[in-house]
Amino acid sequence: ANTVATVTITGAGGQIGYNLLFRIAAGEMLGPDTAVRLKLLEIPQGMRGAEGAALELQDSAFPLLQAVDVTDDPRRAFDGVNVALLVGSRPRGPGMERGDLLAANGGIFGPQGEAINAGAASDVRVVVVGNPANTNALIASAHAPDVPASRFTALTRLDHNRALGQLAAALTVPVTQLRDVTIWGNHSATQFPDVAHATAAGRDVAERLSEEMGADAAQRWLAEEFIPRVARRGAEIIEVRGSSSVASAATAAIDHVRDWVHGTTDGWTSAAIVSDGSYGVPDGLVSSFPVTSEGGEWAIVSGLSIDAFAQERIDRSVAELVEEREAVSALGLI
Ligand code: NAI
Repeated sequence: ANTVATVTITGAGGQIGYNLLFRIAAGEMLGPDTAVRLKLLEIPQGMRGAEGAALELQDSAFPLLQAVDVTDDPRRAFDGVNVALLVGSRPRGPGMERGDLLAANGGIFGPQGEAINAGAASDVRVVVVGNPANTNALIASAHAPDVPASRFTALTRLDHNRALGQLAAALTVPVTQLRDVTIWGNHSATQFPDVAHATAAGRDVAERLSEEMGADAAQRWLAEEFIPRVARRGAEIIEVRGSSSVASAATAAIDHVRDWVHGTTDGWTSAAIVSDGSYGVPDGLVSSFPVTSEGGEWAIVSGLSIDAFAQERIDRSVAELVEEREAVSALGLI
């Protein structure tokens, strides 16, 4: 290995953490040329889980793994961090009001943003996995004034990958032949999975679907099956598996960071990044866009034509992000 990166994982004692740690230590995220120092952040109740994972990391004798530090102190966890995966959060429980949810997460992501601001490396890259991911990223960023807002992102790659999976099955093509699918907006049921610019083996996806199913059926499939199924896939996984998405979420987080650091090659992907006002998304919101990465920076794909149907779907999800921002602002969290 030529370089060493410090990677901090919060919620490291949880399910996604357990899945992520071993793959990062094996080099799947940063590649074979980068050794890793892992920092595992937990709350006191989660420390034993993280400590157990640390023992198993030791037992795996990963050639790229230089150190593992388990802590419940955010300052220590984010000291020198190059890549931060913020997985631990307070997801919505049954009957939980949105205000309570956002307040609980403000109590997590505010202090973590401050700790990142205080101790992170100058090239720090943050991806928020813990829900509500977009707004948690916004909160963390607001507490890290010295870190560019472009370094705080939220994960919608799982939604993107889910869309690829659905299209590959519908068209009977390998996922490698699919390009330029987009997830817009919030990582929530309002998200908009968009195939208007997507191609399969170089041909328009909508056209291919029409050939397979007929034009009307293709339209219906997109609006009534594809979009809601991708947007609600998390609930489907819980119903079938009896537990939320774990390995696929870890896969997506690894894909997100790998593409951010090493760049995208075949067309674009989706990530929630800070808006510059593109496509009518208010400046400063953390929203999912079509993005490419080059030189370690995400860029929003510009100049796409957006029809009325798509703009309405984008606006609807963005309205939810605006409401979340107003709510956390009213609570004094940003
Ligand atoms: P889990 O409950 O197994 O693990 C979460 C861990 O976070 C626990 O060990 C807990 O002790 C820890 N934690 C809680 N507050 C913390 C804090 N302040 N600092 C450090 N650690 C803290 O949950 P799982 O399955 O690992 O999921 C984690 C999160 O990821 C959930 O919020 C879930 O909704 C979200 N998620 C997001 C997806 C996405 O695509 N963006 C996909 C799947 C899950």
